[in-house]
Amino acid sequence: MGRLEGKSVIITGAGSGIGRAASLLFTREGARLIAVDRTDGVKETVEMVKQAGGTAEAVMADAGSEADVIGFIRKAVSAHGKLDAIWANAGVSGGLVPLAEQTPEHWQEVLRVNLIGPFLAVKHSIPLMTAQGHGAIVCTASVAGLKSGASGHPYAASKAGVISLVQTTAYSLSGTGVRINAVCPGLIETGMTKPTFDRAKQRGTESKIGQLNPLKRAGQPHELAAMGLFLASDDASYVNGQAIPVDGGLTASMPYTGKPI
Ligand SMILES: NC(=O)c1ccc[n+]([C@@H]2O[C@H](COP(=O)([O-])OP(=O)(O)OC[C@H]3O[C@@H](n4cnc5c(N)ncnc54)[C@H](O)[C@@H]3O)[C@@H](O)[C@H]2O)c1
Repeated sequence: MGRLEGKSVIITGAGSGIGRAASLLFTREGARLIAVDRTDGVKETVEMVKQAGGTAEAVMADAGSEADVIGFIRKAVSAHGKLDAIWANAGVSGGLVPLAEQTPEHWQEVLRVNLIGPFLAVKHSIPLMTAQGHGAIVCTASVAGLKSGASGHPYAASKAGVISLVQTTAYSLSGTGVRINAVCPGLIETGMTKPTFDRAKQRGTESKIGQLNPLKRAGQPHELAAMGLFLASDDASYVNGQAIPVDGGLTASMPYTGKPI
């Protein structure tokens, strides 16, 4: 028996990186998946799932649009009769724009995808999950939502907002049997961070990537997928309202000299 055997699951941002790794892992564990992305990378993900013997359907949609969110949640219910878990994972980095040059429009787009997207996933999953009396919601935040120094301002604010959304919603869901948690990735090698990795390769400084955390390396998408699987499954039946870093230990310390004490 897989850890998500027969469960109806939605993952957004499934066309690349963490969402693709999660799609492969969740379906290997028996989930019946609606894989969502705004790019057609999601079709490739679903092909990979099917080749591995899993069950998935691709939906091209904007995770920050309420009509689209309603649409893909309806799709999961019509295909699988229920919704057991949703991972609101789609996100954009917003780049590194100097503060004085940032515009409200730039902030609005980053917040729309990264924060309003998870809010909409929460809003439209909750009625189904509370009626069932169970459900697991996972949202992708970031270490950038916990501390400064990992991203631009709108991205950091959006991810701090996701953590707050998760904490406040856990209490909105009191007594319903529905759980909600966030994962806070550190530096993970995905489409989003490809420019950083490419630049380091060009400069020959690849070995320096991830040196600030005690594991001394960047993370891989499957290492996030593993935490998402835990949180989406009944293994995490008493884990609720938390924002869990998966960052090699990066956020465990104050800034330090790098020498072991
Ligand atoms: N890679 C990292 O180091 C890192 C660190 C912290 C947090 N995160 C978060 O992890 C999540 C997954 O990102 P990733 O690193 O796998 O990057 P990625 O770019 O490889 O994947 C993100 C996916 O989200 C999709 N997407 C973006 N906006 C969308 C929208 N409006 N609707 C539907 N799909 C949309 C993209 O098309 C892409 O396929 C994001 O929320 C990101 O902010 C990543």
